[in-house]
Amino acid sequence: MAEKKRKIVVTSALPYANGDIHLGHLVEYVQTDFWVRYQKLRGNDCVYVCADDTHGTPIMIRARQEGITPEELIARSHAVHLKDFTDFQVKFDNYYTTNSPENKALSERFFAAMEASGAITAKTTPQLYCEHCRMFLPDRYVKGVCPKCGADNQYGDSCDRCGSTYGAEELGSPRCTTCGATPVVRDSEHLYFELEPQHDYLEKWIPGHTTSDVSNKLLEWFKEPLRSWCISRDAPYFGFEIPGHKDKYFYVWVDAPIGYIASLENLGRLDMWNDPEAELYHFIGKDIIRFHCLFWPGMLRAAGFKGPDKVFVHGFLTVNGEKMSKSKGTFVNARTYLDHLPADALRYYYAAKLGGTVDDMDLNLTDFVQRVNSDLVGKITNIASRGGQMLQKKLDGRLGSLDAEGAALVARCREASETIARFYEDRRFNQVVVEICKLADAANEYFDSRSPWRTVKTDLEETRTTLTAALNAFRIIAIYLKPILPDYADKAMKLFGETEWTWESVNAARENCALGPYEYLASRIESKQVDAMIAAATVKPADSGEVAHESRASKNKGKGATDGGSGASEPQPKDVPPLKSEIAFPDFEKIDLRVGVVASCEIVPKSSKLLKLEIDAGPLGRRTIFSGIRGAHPDPAELVGKEVVFVANLAPRKMSVGVSEGMVLFAGEPGACGGVLSPLSSAGGGTPVT
Ligand code: 2FM
Ligand code: ZN
Repeated sequence: MAEKKRKIVVTSALPYANGDIHLGHLVEYVQTDFWVRYQKLRGNDCVYVCADDTHGTPIMIRARQEGITPEELIARSHAVHLKDFTDFQVKFDNYYTTNSPENKALSERFFAAMEASGAITAKTTPQLYCEHCRMFLPDRYVKGVCPKCGADNQYGDSCDRCGSTYGAEELGSPRCTTCGATPVVRDSEHLYFELEPQHDYLEKWIPGHTTSDVSNKLLEWFKEPLRSWCISRDAPYFGFEIPGHKDKYFYVWVDAPIGYIASLENLGRLDMWNDPEAELYHFIGKDIIRFHCLFWPGMLRAAGFKGPDKVFVHGFLTVNGEKMSKSKGTFVNARTYLDHLPADALRYYYAAKLGGTVDDMDLNLTDFVQRVNSDLVGKITNIASRGGQMLQKKLDGRLGSLDAEGAALVARCREASETIARFYEDRRFNQVVVEICKLADAANEYFDSRSPWRTVKTDLEETRTTLTAALNAFRIIAIYLKPILPDYADKAMKLFGETEWTWESVNAARENCALGPYEYLASRIESKQVDAMIAAATVKPADSGEVAHESRASKNKGKGATDGGSGASEPQPKDVPPLKSEIAFPDFEKIDLRVGVVASCEIVPKSSKLLKLEIDAGPLGRRTIFSGIRGAHPDPAELVGKEVVFVANLAPRKMSVGVSEGMVLFAGEPGACGGVLSPLSSAGGGTPVT
């Protein structure tokens, strides 16, 4: 009797619309794709849905900074993300957006059901409000002095130095990271999702729905009552307004997971979610466990939806044993990788390293080159390239029959089917690769022991028999590899003149038929390709935004069951230097800006920063101005003859090196949009002597 086909819904976490897909993200999408493709190869009705996560403050602000609408920003990202995924052979059944009508309707339906169940409460809390930006500040948009240890420059949710967590309003000397203004404390009423009524349910639910290491960590929070979760955000916010609550929006983490269902609905398969016969799995990174194993099952239950059967949690990606780093060039975007290296190489390497656990995974770049070349190219592909090319060149490209030894080799490959299937099912992709490499070793040993390069000179039919066995072994290996290397397997399938492979195709053999033309399957990769990729990904420390721009792959700062303040789990904004305090137009009018020509420019002895400029200001005469720009202009002669803008009505300042009669304006770092003009901010004519 035919095996019953399973119905399976699979999701990967939705990437934020304001960031690029990088190698850390790909750990998740690629492994989900392996698993989904395996299920499909087995004939199961498996659908893989995902979407861009489009809402929240960072997306709104990013669009504002780019002078476009959030809708334009998310449309652009959607296209870029989908292209990255497609080029990495990650194949979704639907890649949608959370900013969709389906998601809006579903979010409203969830909220109504949650409210009807009594799980929604309202509380008024003090929050930081920036009067300049006219918005309440999410935790990552405010910095100040840690209330516990006194360290400055700490975000509004937790201190990097002492690790304590606190409310943003507790920060000393707070400032808005967008504009530098000092925020004020304002009360705002917010909606909360009460989790404590589901304490017992969730405590029982968690252990059966994720691995024990993940569940043990989660269960620590159950020693105390579960804290309610703040699910609203104040306008302005890019998201869905909460029905009946003007100017309040669903926090991005409310409608993001609902986006899984919306994507399924958009695919026309909504029925699968609550189908008791269908299985439901989420693949996520360990940084977003609390959203998927606590808030989400709580929401689903309150809204009358089925919960996931399992939440599969993976660890972060490290590169060469360290957190990905922009300044070291190891924070590599998907596109940068593809500009230098083939997708198959990374897919193969990730498979070889992924064991289905929450442990971090290291991409060691030396090992990567070595393993792809020795195993994928030297061991596996070698069977096809040696066998295929010889058959084409010397034996009219026709396969013969298997003799006893050949049949034994092929049988051995077939026998591995259940073991490999089990490893796929359990997401132990590294073991799949180990088994496949064992089969490739056996095929290569067989090939070498039969020495076809010798027999081809004496016995063509014996050679054909040898190549037929080796190529049939390769064929089975390629079928096993299909979930990991789908494009590769498709090319292999064409080599054998076939049009479709299923898992059962391993039971067939190709004998006494023509082999297609040998097409390149995989070639060696060179360390210089890796070097070029790293060079392309290297960002100067000043531009790297390393502190504020953490990735899903490298962040790891859960706060436990909390109010869910938009902290480490939202895309991170970039810091800009704080603005000076606001001035009124009449103040601005007082500044008399004039154009002058640099008549002479010289280094000021004993000063590493200052240059002495003589500015020819035409009818205003000449001015001597000391300016702290030597770092940017080490060769003073280069400035001579240049036109500059200077503040002509600044009161002369007496400095240790002389009197400065104005201030020259220069641009800051190239490309430093939102940066500062150096003389105004730093030197300003130098340090005055009082
Ligand atoms: O952490 C993140 O990148 C989130 N955008 C993941 C959302 S997953 C789901 F809940 F939508
Ligand atoms: Zn501000």
